[in-house]
Amino acid sequence: MARTVDNLTKMFLSNAESNIRYLAFAEAADQEGRQGVAKAFRALAMSKMVHAISHFKATGLVDTTAENLKQASEEEKYDYKSAYPAMVQDAVKEDAIQGRHSLEYGLSIAPVIIKLIAKAMNNPDMESEGSYYICPVCGNIEFKTPSEKCPFCGVDVSQFTEIS
Ligand SMILES: [Fe+2]
Repeated sequence: MARTVDNLTKMFLSNAESNIRYLAFAEAADQEGRQGVAKAFRALAMSKMVHAISHFKATGLVDTTAENLKQASEEEKYDYKSAYPAMVQDAVKEDAIQGRHSLEYGLSIAPVIIKLIAKAMNNPDMESEGSYYICPVCGNIEFKTPSEKCPFCGVDVSQFTEIS
């Protein structure tokens, strides 16, 4: 069983990574005007996501919501306090402009993410009414009434993805 859990974990990570890579490949195909390939990549990404979720569930590591929120909070605090700051410094030293911007967005939005998780931890019966709005550039999350432009990156609210 231990080996199976290891294997499931490996394939969960592999499929989760493929899911994201294929979505990025779909965007690239769209930009090249290859909508058919873009659609195929999105289908592949969805299939990979199904496998990733299935493998992860089979590891038995999905807990109660209270425990899952605690785990998410710890992960996000680690990213905010340890992972991102050191990585931003590396990018600055290497003058990696695009990498620095991407990592800085991750660092900037971490408090937003931590705050939302804390809100859910403090109120497990939180309302389900109202939508979340996610900025496609920096990952900022707004609730119910989003700003006209993202306060972190300036993207227009019409570009946000609504989670209703
Ligand atoms: Fe943004």
